[in-house]
Amino acid sequence: PGRPGRPVPGTDFEAVPPNKLDAVTIPEGYDQRVVIRWGDAVEAGAPKFDFAKQTAAAQAKQFGYNCDFVGLIPQDPLGIRNLLVVNHEYTTEVHMFPADQYDPANPTEEQVKIAWAAHGLSVVQTFRDPIGGALHVTPSRYNRRITLNTPFEVRGPAAGSKFLKTSADPSGRKVLGTQNNCAGGVTPWGTVLSGEENVNQYFANADKVTDPVASARLKRYGFSGTATTRKWERYDKRWDLAQEPNEANRFGWVVEIDPNDPNSTPVKHTALGRFKHEAANVKITKDGRVAVYSGDDERFEYIYKFVSKGKYKPGDSAHARRHNSALLDEGTLYVGRFTGDSPAAEIDGTGKLPADGEFDGVGEWIPLASGTKSFVDGFTAEEIYVFTRQAADKVQPTKMDRPEDIQPNPVNGRIYAALTNNSQRGPAGKANVDEANPRPNNRNGHILEWDEEGGDAASTKFSWRLLLVCGDPKTADTYFGGFPKDQVSPISCPDNVAFDRHGNLWISTDGNALGANDGLFSVPVDGPERGHVKQFLSVPVGAECCGPVVTDHLVLVAVQHPGEDAPSSANPTSHWPDGGATQPRPSIVSVWKKGRWGQVGRIGVK
Ligand code: FEO
Ligand code: CA
Ligand code: CA
Ligand code: CA
Repeated sequence: PGRPGRPVPGTDFEAVPPNKLDAVTIPEGYDQRVVIRWGDAVEAGAPKFDFAKQTAAAQAKQFGYNCDFVGLIPQDPLGIRNLLVVNHEYTTEVHMFPADQYDPANPTEEQVKIAWAAHGLSVVQTFRDPIGGALHVTPSRYNRRITLNTPFEVRGPAAGSKFLKTSADPSGRKVLGTQNNCAGGVTPWGTVLSGEENVNQYFANADKVTDPVASARLKRYGFSGTATTRKWERYDKRWDLAQEPNEANRFGWVVEIDPNDPNSTPVKHTALGRFKHEAANVKITKDGRVAVYSGDDERFEYIYKFVSKGKYKPGDSAHARRHNSALLDEGTLYVGRFTGDSPAAEIDGTGKLPADGEFDGVGEWIPLASGTKSFVDGFTAEEIYVFTRQAADKVQPTKMDRPEDIQPNPVNGRIYAALTNNSQRGPAGKANVDEANPRPNNRNGHILEWDEEGGDAASTKFSWRLLLVCGDPKTADTYFGGFPKDQVSPISCPDNVAFDRHGNLWISTDGNALGANDGLFSVPVDGPERGHVKQFLSVPVGAECCGPVVTDHLVLVAVQHPGEDAPSSANPTSHWPDGGATQPRPSIVSVWKKGRWGQVGRIGVK
């Protein structure tokens, strides 16, 4: 590595320069189309979207707000017919209603119910135009909205736990809805795993919980204060911790949706632990078990791995889907420790590489619980699954710079994690720098890769290194896998990751700290082009870039919260995607390469 070579397949395109345009900007020779926007029809009978006259009944059948994870599940060998599965992470009410209709201090019951219906997931069937490359949504029996009112089955070792029982659900096994679904993953058996992330923000009155044990647990998960921003607690007591303290414990899980069975009850998987799950992605172990990787996205939180007890059955038949989903109910939950191999004095906070030329080292997976067995002193297995953060605190895992999406590379077998940023590390912060998190004021984030010992996802040992230390390549505290820095695109705040068929890593960003819009970037991870970051697209003003999906024929991204920098809908800063004086709408976009003679080209292939 370190000597530029020829562009590798999948990344041969002209990089998009950093910009602040209110548009999705793509490379020369490519084309784009909006696939589905907030408010577009998902289920049959959905009324036409009307920004000024929205209702909860309409929203429950329409595409939800703030699209994040995007999964594309082919229904035929050519990928013409696909199921598109999208998360709707959170709501921003001041942008969802006309300014003269929405009083943040006094939302109406209907407005609150609209917000509940705008959460969750959407499943739609799509057709890819074999000539143009665009993706089109079609009415179908698969089309489905999952909202904060959809019943979920709680499964695994904490199902029925005393910590999950509420007055509305004395069984502790049935939860209404999912929220703050951030990133996710498509499983090898064709279902979708989705992480419930910043769930604390919707619960009121944590400060009124007087029991010291319950109060400490809430605090460790970020539940604090009295009234919430959204005031949902006025219309359903489950959002009021003073009345229903256990409702908090029913969120913060990995959920599984089976888009191939529109009548299926979605699942909350308790064996994967409870924290601010960014996402969950699967790799099959050498002996055929299922490993699931997940980051806890908050400053100084941890990276986790689950390894199932039972073995995977290949295929995506209804039988295989049921069998493989059940594997996530029993196994071992681990937390990661990353140890550097350079002297601590060489990790000096400047971001400069240590003398051995890399931020790297070894690591181990520390077991927390396995079935009903606890590995943590002072914690029952039940407590470990429900209060995973506090159990993990006892075993000295590595405090990371906000672990976001984690994804196994299908070509080289290594695992890749985005660490988005951390403004609080360093002498004044909660932890000093370490080799895996080497910058004290990490505004731009980094990308970590590791090899499980023997290439086996079941291994409890690994070796790791930083692939990218992100930021402005002109500054000394950045690193691009050894690639010449004068040839790369600036990149800041990596969030979601994906791989193309060639094994190139694709990174979408959230919160660009370099003064330009967020976007999607490709980077080869092996050979002479390792570290050659190139920007493929940028998203409109105020938006973060989510998704992404990269196939031979198209790239899909979610444009989340365009125009979010405006204080309300009175003066929008973005008019994307509809243009003119319209309000911005979170939407999915497909991008493809225009080929010769009207044929669709291949992404990143000249
Ligand atoms: Fe919802 Fe960690 O991004
Ligand atoms: Ca080193
Ligand atoms: Ca994310
Ligand atoms: Ca994000």
